[in-house]
Amino acid sequence: MVEMTKFAPSVEVGVVLASPVLFIIFYALWRVIYNVFLHPLRHFPGPGWAAASDFFKLWVLHTKQQHTLALAAHAKYGPIVRAAPNLLAVNDPRLLPEIYHRRANKTDIFTQAILGEIAPPLECKDWREHAVRRKRVASTFFQTNLLKLEGQVDKCVLEWTDALGTRFADTGKPLNFAGWSQWFAYDTICTLTLGRALGFVREGCDVGNLIKNFHSMAPYAAIVYALPWLCAPVLRSAFLRNIFLPNKMADQAATDKLTEFQTSLAEDREKEKQKVVNNILAAKNEDGKGIEVEEAGADSFILMVLASDTTSGFFCGFVEYVMQTEGVYTRLMAEIAEADRRGDLSSPVATFEEIQKLSYFEACHLEVLRYQPSASILLSRLVGEGGLNLHGKWVPPGTEIGANPHVVNRDKTVFGEDADTFRPDRWLESEDHSQEMERYMLTWGYGTRMCLGKNIATIETYKLLLQFFRLFYISTEEHQGGWRKENLGLITYYDMWLRIKHRVPLPLKP
Ligand code: HEM
Repeated sequence: MVEMTKFAPSVEVGVVLASPVLFIIFYALWRVIYNVFLHPLRHFPGPGWAAASDFFKLWVLHTKQQHTLALAAHAKYGPIVRAAPNLLAVNDPRLLPEIYHRRANKTDIFTQAILGEIAPPLECKDWREHAVRRKRVASTFFQTNLLKLEGQVDKCVLEWTDALGTRFADTGKPLNFAGWSQWFAYDTICTLTLGRALGFVREGCDVGNLIKNFHSMAPYAAIVYALPWLCAPVLRSAFLRNIFLPNKMADQAATDKLTEFQTSLAEDREKEKQKVVNNILAAKNEDGKGIEVEEAGADSFILMVLASDTTSGFFCGFVEYVMQTEGVYTRLMAEIAEADRRGDLSSPVATFEEIQKLSYFEACHLEVLRYQPSASILLSRLVGEGGLNLHGKWVPPGTEIGANPHVVNRDKTVFGEDADTFRPDRWLESEDHSQEMERYMLTWGYGTRMCLGKNIATIETYKLLLQFFRLFYISTEEHQGGWRKENLGLITYYDMWLRIKHRVPLPLKP
């Protein structure tokens, strides 16, 4: 009897402790059974694990190869793949207008807590709210406005090519192009938003470990993107955030730089200089009131991240495919040399207008955009109230649906039978076909949410790459482990080693 009373409480405690655990196990099992056998998307083909649970997305992220896995999945399962219990991935470019229509809402990605408390346009879920926010900043990005900033881009390009000349071409030391192209991209967007660079290129290093800190947040952002329903409660509570989300931005030097960034924004309100951020700050709400500094801060901060890693990924992709595809480097160098010989390129930096006349350069540029889009991630939207009919199958409202630019850009019916091959000439063969390919290329997104920075990115990448190939002979450098590139949403290169030599004497400084 005595023994029984001693034992009884621990049994109760055990039952109490076990019941939530048992509940979670049963609930998880029920979800798997529901997802596989009862879910409205059960008729769509796809990997079994993907249909069973959202956690499959974590495995995909872990591979850092979601673009190649997506290609393989479509090759195996067809044009519409069930990529998660409630997510369909499509590969058919002709379905884009149906998915990315004007009233399509974005899915719940809850990245605000990582990328700033106030959601910038990229993160607006509701199409109406997005339209208002986008309208406020859109005129800033018109090409005519941006061409006024060309001189500022030129200064950044000159500082960068000068640094490369003295540090690497003069000394023969190997150049890590991945780092240097990122530093250029961050400095340039800061110049265009703040009116001055943060100094990455001047100092030849990652100032304040800012980029390292941004990148160390990437896996967390990717998990939030993959499992918003699980991460939302954590992100909403400051207490839980501190426990689960290491504050990678807490590095003192990085915090100082970002504080400086916010202060400059407030100061810029008073100034009348021609800057991208001025337009953001000057933007008006529909009621005529100016937008808050914090809002402009969120817009500008996301601009820095969006603008820099995407463009530097592109710089590296361009160098990789031009250098490693037989015949392309030689032909490109010949075209640039010929243009220089004819006096068609201004010095010290060629103008955007002049570069647009170099047809092979332009073809290489388009082919890299097609072949390796910087944002090789599924761009998801919610199916609206009326549902969708795709390839004869019904897709119910509330389903998440989207396409990965890496997959769409390899479609053989639009881009040709050799779409899996890097071949710039496809852009030179027929005007009509070129236009069709550009219309369906998903690199910049599609519809009303298309990249706002397309024009900035084009000006920046034209100028930097043209000058790089114009001023230097480039050769690839063997490196232990090879060049490394990873995809956690954006294609990011590490350790991309090159050797460069002066091609023509460096032009006079301005
Ligand atoms: C090669 C470079 C770039 C690529 C490939 C790229 C790609 C993209 C893509 C695919 C989207 C659409 C995302 C979605 O539908 O969910 C997007 C949106 C956006 N991009 Fe870019 N981007 C690049 C450079 C830039 C630059 C330089 C800036 C700014 C200066 C920028 C600013 C933005 C903004 C603000 C949005 C959100 C637009 C909206 O939701 O209305 N991007 N970008």
